[in-house]
Amino acid sequence: MSVNWYKNLMSTDLRGRVLLPWRQETFPVDWQQEFASSAPLHLEVGFGDGRFTLRRALENPTESFVGLEISSASLQRGWKKIRNHDLRNVRLIKLGAQFAVQHLFAPQSLSSIVVNFPDPWPKEKHEKNRLLQDSFFKLAASRLKPGGSINLATDHPEYLAFARAQSQLSGLYDLLEPSPPQAVFETKYALKWKDQGKPLYYQVFRYNGLASPHFPILERPATMPHALIQGQLPETFDFSKQVLAYGDGHVILHEVLKSMGSDDETPAQEKWLFRATIDEKDLKQQLLVVVKRRSPDELIVRLEPFGDPVITKTTRGAVHAVTEWLLSLPAGIKVLERNY
Ligand SMILES: C[S@@+](CC[C@H](N)C(=O)[O-])C[C@H]1O[C@@H](n2cnc3c(N)ncnc32)[C@H](O)[C@@H]1O
Repeated sequence: MSVNWYKNLMSTDLRGRVLLPWRQETFPVDWQQEFASSAPLHLEVGFGDGRFTLRRALENPTESFVGLEISSASLQRGWKKIRNHDLRNVRLIKLGAQFAVQHLFAPQSLSSIVVNFPDPWPKEKHEKNRLLQDSFFKLAASRLKPGGSINLATDHPEYLAFARAQSQLSGLYDLLEPSPPQAVFETKYALKWKDQGKPLYYQVFRYNGLASPHFPILERPATMPHALIQGQLPETFDFSKQVLAYGDGHVILHEVLKSMGSDDETPAQEKWLFRATIDEKDLKQQLLVVVKRRSPDELIVRLEPFGDPVITKTTRGAVHAVTEWLLSLPAGIKVLERNY
């Protein structure tokens, strides 16, 4: 897939704003401002090709709809479907449901969460990957309005039974079986399973309004996490992949790249970039940590803003991992300050 579609997508989107650049948003997103409306707000997890999202947004022009996808191909398909309709009441986001629900939505902000034909993860050892499990039901209850609901459509009786059982563990949901809205059984996957003669199921989990656990929303730090170190880096050094457990996840340092140019502050050859992956349960990020000279004797180790990283505990660990690795060099480096 070419990079151009994504560039086009971003530039057109900023005019019509179907796609939300969530990394640049405040947490939680101010949806009333985003949609210029205080109408009911609905979330759809895994919109696939977006036909259900489009149909609902067209049929309910006074309500607001947010769609989540983790697949870039689906995001592109959904965006292509929606972009020509001049709709103001839909936003699409490329992000997993667990992170999005916790950090992009304020408590009691959602009227419904729609999950049409979620990946069933049929093997018992993969059940932990299913979306509709106790932990998600609790998280969702903390963001739904009392009386709001999670609406599930599935072809998978085991998934249905699993979700029903999991929903009852917290005591926060009532089970309802209304007849499904027509569009639910006309999604791409609904039609595929119908063609194969599979029965389709529809289940509503209504939040009863009892107190749900607290799920904190990430705060954005005012400055990028960094450390100040004293000393000289050697001209060359060996580097091999580093993996460090930090916070609730792992930091993987893949490689170090030496800059060939200078910037406003740093002379040429005095800047190194560490390419890192931050692997957390609900979010995986690629980012850069820079090490660069600030004065004849002082270097800064800092997360680069490139790529708009979201600063989580484990993201801060990237600065820690690089700092510790530099300390392990036989160069007599000292830490002056840790600010991460
Ligand atoms: C089986 S497809 C169903 C697509 C669509 N709802 C339909 O009915 O045609 C499941 C979709 O959920 C997406 N998905 C899986 N896990 C997700 C998550 N945690 N957050 C958001 N989307 C997810 C997948 O990328 C996939 O497109």
